[in-house]
Amino acid sequence: MRTQVGIIGAGPAGLLLSHLLTQRGIESVLVENRSRAYCEARQRAGLLEDGTVKLLREAGLAQRLDTEGLEHGGIYLQFAGERHHLDFRELTGRTVTIYAQTEIVKDLIARRLADGGALEFEVSGTAVAGLGTARPVLSYTTAGGDRRELVCDAIAGCDGFHGICRPTIPADLLTVRDRAYPYAWLGITAEVPPSTDELIYNHHREGFALHTMRTPQVSRFYLQVRPDERIGDWPDDRIWAALQRRLALPGWELKEGPILDKAITPMRSFVSAPMRYGRLFLAGDAAHIVPPTGAKGLNLAVADVTVLANTLARLVQGDTQAADGYSDACLDRVWRATHFSWWMTSMLHTIPGGDPMDTDLQLAQLRYVTTSRAAATSLAENYTGYPPLR
Ligand code: FAD
Ligand code: DHB
Repeated sequence: MRTQVGIIGAGPAGLLLSHLLTQRGIESVLVENRSRAYCEARQRAGLLEDGTVKLLREAGLAQRLDTEGLEHGGIYLQFAGERHHLDFRELTGRTVTIYAQTEIVKDLIARRLADGGALEFEVSGTAVAGLGTARPVLSYTTAGGDRRELVCDAIAGCDGFHGICRPTIPADLLTVRDRAYPYAWLGITAEVPPSTDELIYNHHREGFALHTMRTPQVSRFYLQVRPDERIGDWPDDRIWAALQRRLALPGWELKEGPILDKAITPMRSFVSAPMRYGRLFLAGDAAHIVPPTGAKGLNLAVADVTVLANTLARLVQGDTQAADGYSDACLDRVWRATHFSWWMTSMLHTIPGGDPMDTDLQLAQLRYVTTSRAAATSLAENYTGYPPLR
């Protein structure tokens, strides 16, 4: 079988890429080893940069985002018993939008199917070959048990951090930067209206906490926990007690409600370069991951595939040099976001076994970003996002 671009992974990167390629008149087949229901229900990110919203709007994918997304003009930073507001709208003229990754994935899958896109869920044995040739091959076994071989012009590895694409690149051609953090996030979704109008990033001696939201009826929270902790050790009342202690502020009340889901996510910074090997192009978490503080992961995936769609449009028309610029075009933004996520993470999380010097340095930095307009603008500029890439 033949297609122009074989895409592996039905996360935001792979799905958006297949849509952008269709808009450029390029045919693709997307394969995913999980079920559609699983992909649509996987709880992950929720915050979109200004540029991400504009890209989705330009791509004709923002009907529901524009009606259901919650636009936010700033955040709160809470530390040392005080809550400070940073006004992004005033500092940068830009905003961010809360709209869950689950909803983006649902919107993308619905649109791909409506447009007659080739999506194959529940495949197994995904493999790639011939990456150094002009006709790489993507092979897989369909949900019905048929083995398929797709001859492509290019393959897009959008298969996340644990996918098969990055490991097929010879290790001696890759430069890998990897940092694991000594903490993890316990994330919950709760059926209770948010107790705040904007997100609260909270520094606390017991550990970081974040109050975010999904809809006017549904809240989301994250708690810093040890990376080796098990979710079974966190019954609902223990989670609420920790949130109440960490987020407490005189005169403010945190409302509680039924917890709909909970999970623990480890935190790491990881960048693998280059993001291309012959006719294999990596995008999103397949090439890089950031700790979630600052919400860059999903936004980076969207930025990568925007560049990749344009690169592939030139490649399939015979411009073989187009591929050469892909990796560098993405990596500048990837490293800026990697630095920002590391910086936010380091400023806000308690260091296990850390001494009081670490805490006082964090508090000094938090006071600086909440009192200096220059420092606040720098945070706001990074948080709301970087200019769109073409
Ligand atoms: P993914 O969404 O990981 O998609 C990759 C897809 O490839 C998956 O559907 C996978 O099943 C599929 N796949 C893998 N291997 C194969 C194979 N061999 N064959 C076929 N298909 C395959 N970011 C934030 O900004 N804020 C957050 O709060 C946040 N929370 C997160 C929580 C968790 C548990 C995780 C894992 C990530 C979180 N992120 C968060 C990061 C953000 O969700 C990711 O950056 C984003 O999902 C990246 O999209 P992607 O399409 O590159 O990868
Ligand atoms: C969300 C996640 C983040 O990591 C973040 O910094 C802000 C918001 C969220 O899931 O809503």
